[in-house]
Amino acid sequence: MFKSNAISAYLKNQASLDLLRFITCGSVDDGKSTLIGRMLYESQMIFDDQVASLKNDSKKYGTQGEDIDFALLVDGLSAEREQGITIDVAYRFFSSSKRKFIVADTPGHEQYTRNMATGASTADMAILLVDARNGILTQTKRHSFIVSLLGIQNIVLAINKMDLIDYDKNIYEKLSSEYISFSKKLNFKKIKSIPISALKGDNIHKKSKNMKWYSDKTLFDYLETTKSQITNKDGFIFPVQRVNRPDLNFRGYSGTITGGKIKKGDELISLPSNQKAKVKDILIGEKLIKSAGFKQSVTLTLNKEIDTSRGDVFCSKKSVIEMADQFNLNVIWMSEEKCFNGRTYLAKIHNIATSIKIMSIKKIYNVNTLEFDSGDELKLNDVAEISVSFNKDIPYSTFKENKTLGSLIIIDPISNQTIGMGMINFALRRSQNIQLQNLSINKNLREKINGHKGQVLWMTGLSGSGKSTLANELEKKLYSQGKKTYILDGDNIRYGLNKDLGFTDKDRVENIRRVAEVAKLMCDAGLIVITAFISPFRLEREMARSLFEKSDFKEIFISTPLKVAEKRDPKGLYKKARQGKIPNFTGIDSVYEKPVNPDLEIDTSKISLSEAVKKILNIIV
Ligand code: ADX
Repeated sequence: MFKSNAISAYLKNQASLDLLRFITCGSVDDGKSTLIGRMLYESQMIFDDQVASLKNDSKKYGTQGEDIDFALLVDGLSAEREQGITIDVAYRFFSSSKRKFIVADTPGHEQYTRNMATGASTADMAILLVDARNGILTQTKRHSFIVSLLGIQNIVLAINKMDLIDYDKNIYEKLSSEYISFSKKLNFKKIKSIPISALKGDNIHKKSKNMKWYSDKTLFDYLETTKSQITNKDGFIFPVQRVNRPDLNFRGYSGTITGGKIKKGDELISLPSNQKAKVKDILIGEKLIKSAGFKQSVTLTLNKEIDTSRGDVFCSKKSVIEMADQFNLNVIWMSEEKCFNGRTYLAKIHNIATSIKIMSIKKIYNVNTLEFDSGDELKLNDVAEISVSFNKDIPYSTFKENKTLGSLIIIDPISNQTIGMGMINFALRRSQNIQLQNLSINKNLREKINGHKGQVLWMTGLSGSGKSTLANELEKKLYSQGKKTYILDGDNIRYGLNKDLGFTDKDRVENIRRVAEVAKLMCDAGLIVITAFISPFRLEREMARSLFEKSDFKEIFISTPLKVAEKRDPKGLYKKARQGKIPNFTGIDSVYEKPVNPDLEIDTSKISLSEAVKKILNIIV
């Protein structure tokens, strides 16, 4: 074990070592925590006092009699100790004289798919742990599918608890070949089976005396010598993270090399500008270096000024990165909030943050059988193939070719939480064959003739809150002033354009998506557009807002309380809903998410119609 005074010398030596990141997949029952605990213990990465307390804890909570229970070293949280399960992703660090390791330890149950995906997303290798007594289970297959989805190609099949099957070679070989034939469907490049006993220490660090029939590497040997993953795309790839301009004489581009290598004098191309330049200097901090390679973070200066900003990508001629705005992705949904077709979110792809729209959910995988179903919404832990569109062209690569340029995270624009993880399968060619036409008569010119701005007054609120009445009165007033207007009203639009839509969450998302697009066209036509839709979801109202210039869109919250709306019940719908005759009725059994920061709030139970109209007229541009 370490003595503290040896630590600094030790750490110095460690700094120069290569790093392998891996994930362990399996459940507590398979012996996962015991395995990690033993690896930490045998790599001597724990201190004397930890060993003492481990021995103590083993007696108190352990399951191994007088022996050390290594699982206790890993299952650090007391809640976990009591329940005997591991809850979240924990990253643990250890090292040997040859290599440093970071192991992502994630729970194995299906409800923790998102945790596992998080752990796997940065790993070079995966250890799949199998209990030799139980064989290759559904869980092992699910874990294999997820790690393959996240681009891990190097697999160790650790067949554990060999001590409990009398170190039987035949069982080991049968399981090993069963797994190899199963995994043919997945994209693994290397699968190494190792028979182990994490509890007894067989083939972990030391060669097992109980399995003389196995003459290959121990788990530790393998971890020390296996290649850490490399990018599959040839040539230099450098997503620009920051343009560094401390003074007029220096302009550097900082970022991390995610493919290939670069040396002074090399020519590179910047995307999307397609301009070329040569590398003048390569810096790490203030230090000049001659060349740099994969995963190194550097600053590059160029021999001439080119048009490049954050989010652009430098590449060598060999690695032609392409541009597209529509993609087919595999996605892992990580949020309790469902994902729907047509919904708009934020996405972060290498150094670009932009909006992303779900165009269609193609198939949802059954992670246990590797078959798939169709479906049109995603819930927590779903894995699916979807198509998406961005609002601009993105320099990209497929995930298979380059993990950094081919992966993205999806973010809820309101809460800022990461809610999905996406891997690009391919770009949809359609995007390259459609171009915006430049037309001579534009919004500005139309506004000049109309004598007012095209704009949108977006009313939101419960059914019966007074949206339509208010819209009608407002339009009369504007008409009398000679303004060009149009009302888009919920019920009316549902007679025509949206008659295929009902009132499920998914249909409401699509309803508002179409209405927002129509409002956009009408606004562009120079009209004052008044919309009267419940529009119950914040995300869709935000999406609608994002389509317009800031001053052209006003959100008006008709905040009349449910009690009042229900009492008015102009169409008798609340009564029916209370009788259970209308499912998904807003305010009864379907949510209404109140606006947080509306441009105007009107409670029609508190002020008169004419006062309300006056208030709205005041905010019209
Ligand atoms: S939204 O939620 O998708 O924005 P929208 O405004 O188009 O709804 O339509 C709401 C109108 O449809 C209500 O004013 C009401 O007349 C009618 N309606 C019928 N069923 C429902 C329901 N389940 N929930 C809410 N409104 C309903």
